[in-house]
Amino acid sequence: MLFQRVKPLDQILATAEQRGLKRQLGALQLVLLGVGAIIGTGIFVLTSVAANKAGPGMMYSFVIAAIVCALTALVYAEIASMVPVAGSAYTYSYAVLGEIVAWMVGWALILEYAVAAGAVSVGWSGYANGFLREIGMGLPVALTAGPWDTVKLADGSVVNGSFNLIAFVVALVVTSLLVLGTSKSAWVNAFLVAIKITALSVFVVLAIGSVNTANFEPMLPNGWGSPLSSSGLGVLGAAASIFFAYVGFDAVSTAAEETKNPNRNIPIGLIGSLAVCTVFYLLVAYAAVGAVGAQPGGELSMSKEPLAYVLRTIGYPRIGNWVAAAAILALPSVIIMMMYGQTRILFTMSRDGLMPKLFSEVHPKFHTPHVVTMITGVAVSLFAAMFPVSMLADITNSGTLFAFFMVALGVMLLRKREPTRVRPFRTPFIAFVGPAAMAGCLLLFWSLDTFTKSAFLGWAIVGLIVYFAFSRSRSALANGNK
Ligand code: ALA
Repeated sequence: MLFQRVKPLDQILATAEQRGLKRQLGALQLVLLGVGAIIGTGIFVLTSVAANKAGPGMMYSFVIAAIVCALTALVYAEIASMVPVAGSAYTYSYAVLGEIVAWMVGWALILEYAVAAGAVSVGWSGYANGFLREIGMGLPVALTAGPWDTVKLADGSVVNGSFNLIAFVVALVVTSLLVLGTSKSAWVNAFLVAIKITALSVFVVLAIGSVNTANFEPMLPNGWGSPLSSSGLGVLGAAASIFFAYVGFDAVSTAAEETKNPNRNIPIGLIGSLAVCTVFYLLVAYAAVGAVGAQPGGELSMSKEPLAYVLRTIGYPRIGNWVAAAAILALPSVIIMMMYGQTRILFTMSRDGLMPKLFSEVHPKFHTPHVVTMITGVAVSLFAAMFPVSMLADITNSGTLFAFFMVALGVMLLRKREPTRVRPFRTPFIAFVGPAAMAGCLLLFWSLDTFTKSAFLGWAIVGLIVYFAFSRSRSALANGNK
């Protein structure tokens, strides 16, 4: 009975048709959209976190996380092309796995989107604070990190911060832009993607010239790690963290309703954007490790702006500053994308009756869901002001891995239940790819540290309480609410 409430696929598709968004995005724009959402704090900042967990072996971590994402993207592409409507994993789960699972997925997506927006804000603040220091206008140390975060001082000592002012402010600015209705301009996105790709390309070209094989030794100072360990260290622990660098490819599916020929273009967008980013990430990881070494506790692993640090160290301080400037310019678009995704998911859940009605209120002048945007924005700004990027990124990953696991399960169930439904894109070798995607998500999830897994569990329990106390009876699918 608990799993019986489903929102029929055909009803979801019909609602999307009525909304009638203009179908104007092509394959290239979708790949750019994906790359715009993917490249961000993960590669620009968390490279140091990965070095701290795995040492030079973090290169393997990038590969492992990429494999899990590639498997997931293949199954994601099947359902996203079948149900080309906004709402992502939440909507798919509603149709296939029923309301309670959809609720849990939507609840977990709050970790994927809102917490990720906080993480990217903190990552951005690392580069922005570094820039302010370089031009002699650095903020007091206490205002450069949150109370649970640390800063390494020039004398080598490590202190806690008090309030990460810049991360707080950038999240609030993004919130205001979203309330005013920043349109997702494809041109602006393409420009920012070009900046990020150029910065990473310049980095790779310069750093590869300084690769020294001695920097790869010892390769695995913390070993491979294990999903059974509680520390989150080693190659697997770093893979579970660096997974964050790939989060966002599913943003392509949120544009499904605005895509021309979605059957063909959505899979290209999902898989293409992931492929482009993977190539860059592997090159950047190799070049960074080879150029300056990546031992846990070393300089790279402690840097809040690791790519700029590498270039400054190998004799290109000015280009290091340019790469930092590129990050400063381009990362806020990732925050916009994440926060936008969050507000639209909460909006959809509100329209389904699962979240307060207030969340689907639309501003009369700006035509944006301003209430939900402001609530989300204040929450994101506060996380960003308080917590370290690594903690926020790991929590994001826990929610995302859960959602991806459910999507893979849903796709496989739907193959059994509705084998004849039209599938514009069919995941190849689903009998292997589906279970492998699920196993990969589980492996990474368990490789997170105990704190993150406990935080996820706590969040899930709160979610269930909210569902039974509030949402279940108010659902649009509950008896008498139709
Ligand atoms: N993948 C995105 C980033 O690294 C979330 O910032």
